Amino acid sequence: MSFNPLQEKGLPLEKQLRNWHQIAGKPYNKTDVDCYTRTRQILMNGIEVEAWGFKHQFNRFVPDNNDKAVIAMISRIEDSQQATANWMGPADQSVLETTLGYEQVAVDLTAWMAQNEPDEYVKETFDFGLLEDFDHLYRYSQFAYMAEGIKPSAIVQGQTDVIAGRPTQHHHNCNGIRIRKHYDKAAAHPQTKVNILTLLSGEQQTHNYYAEHGFMYADPLLRETYAEIKDVEEEHVTMYESLIDPAESMYEKFLLHEFTEVCNYYTCMEDESDDRIKKTWELFLDIELGHLQIAADMFKKYEKRDPEEVIGNEIVIPCRFMSQKDYVRSVLEREADKRLLAEGKYTTIDKLPEDWASYGIQKKQNELGAPTESAVWLAEIYHNRDIVEADKELKDKETEILKKGLQKEALAPNTVMPDDLEKMIKKAEKIKEKKKELI
Ligand SMILES: [Fe+2]
Ligand SMILES: [Fe+2]
Ligand SMILES: [Fe+2]
Ligand SMILES: [Fe+2]
Repeated sequence: MSFNPLQEKGLPLEKQLRNWHQIAGKPYNKTDVDCYTRTRQILMNGIEVEAWGFKHQFNRFVPDNNDKAVIAMISRIEDSQQATANWMGPADQSVLETTLGYEQVAVDLTAWMAQNEPDEYVKETFDFGLLEDFDHLYRYSQFAYMAEGIKPSAIVQGQTDVIAGRPTQHHHNCNGIRIRKHYDKAAAHPQTKVNILTLLSGEQQTHNYYAEHGFMYADPLLRETYAEIKDVEEEHVTMYESLIDPAESMYEKFLLHEFTEVCNYYTCMEDESDDRIKKTWELFLDIELGHLQIAADMFKKYEKRDPEEVIGNEIVIPCRFMSQKDYVRSVLEREADKRLLAEGKYTTIDKLPEDWASYGIQKKQNELGAPTESAVWLAEIYHNRDIVEADKELKDKETEILKKGLQKEALAPNTVMPDDLEKMIKKAEKIKEKKKELI
C-alpha cells in the first residue's frame, strides 16, 4: 500500500462544519441494505463516540488555551460525524434488529482482526473475545424471533452463523482476571494499535447501546438478558483496553485516535457498496486527515518526536467486513472450553483451580438463573427448540460444542444441559415430521 496519511493535508478544520441537513443525513432502507453496510455504519458510530469521548477527557489536561480551543473544535466535529453515522440507521429498525447488527459487527470484525494481527498474544485475546460475542448473537436471536418474528438471517443475511458458542453464563469474570498483558508501545506494530483501538471502540459502543436500550422492552427476561450481556461488554472494554501500553502519553493517544479514524474511513470508502453512503465515508476520511495533521503537529511540538515512530508511514486496514464462518467455526471447535487466568494467562476448564476467582462472580450473578439460558428454554416452549442458523455440519455439532463449553462448577441453576438440548432437537424433528403428515 502506498497511501501515507501523514503526507495528506485533508480538509482544513475551519471547513469541517456542516449544516443540520447534512449532519442528520438520510437513513438506509433496512430491507435492502447490505448487512456489511450496516456493520460499517454501526462500527463507525462506535469509533466516533470514542473519538469524541477521548477528546473531552484529553482536553481536561491541556493547559494551553489555544490548543484547548482547537481540540474543542475537533470534538465538535467528531460529535457531528457520530450523529451522521448513527442516524444512517432507520427509525423502523427495532432495537433487537440493531442488536443483532451489533453482534455481527463484533463477530466478523474480531475474526478478521485475529487473522490479520501481527502480535500472537493479542490475536489469542481476540479469539477469546470472539467466541463470547458469537454466543451473544445466538442468545439475542432467540428473542428477536420470539418477540418480533425476526429471523436472524433478515439481519445477518446468511453471512454469520447463529448457534450456541461459549455459553454467556460463563462470560462473567473477576475483573482482575480480565486484565491482559499490554503491548510495548515502542515495539508494537501500528496494525496492533489500530486493531485494539478499533475493537475497543466497537465494544464500548455495544455496551452503551445495550445500556441505553435494554429498558425499551417490557419482557422482564429480555430486560435481564440485556443487563447480562451488557455486563459482558463492560468486561470486553476492560479486556481490550488492558492490551494498550499505559505509558502512552495523551498526545500519543490523540495521534493514535486520529490515525485509527483515518484507517477505518479509508477502509469503509474502499469497501462500501452503497454509492450514497460511500460519499459520506470519502468526506469523513478527508475530515480525519485534517485532524491527523493537527494531532501530528501537537505531537511534534510537545513530545519532540516523529509521528512516524507511533503510526508508521502507511495506512493499515483494521477490517474488511466479509463472512468469517470458516474461521469462527475453527476457533469455536477448538476453544469453547478456554478460560481466563490471572496475569494475562489462558487455560481450559479442566485445568481451572478450585479457588478460581470467577466462580464466585458467576455464582452470585447467576444465583437466580442466567437469563441467557432462560432464552433457550423459552424458545423451546415457542418453537420446540432453539433458533439456529448454520450449515448442517455445524448444527450437528451443537450439543458437542455445548458440552465442551459448559463448566461443571458454578453452573446457573437453569442451565440448558447438553442432554436437554439433544431432547429439544429430537422433539422439534418429530413435530416437524408430524406437521408434514398433517399437511
Ligand atoms: Fe471523527
Ligand atoms: Fe457481544
Ligand atoms: Fe463484545
Ligand atoms: Fe477525528
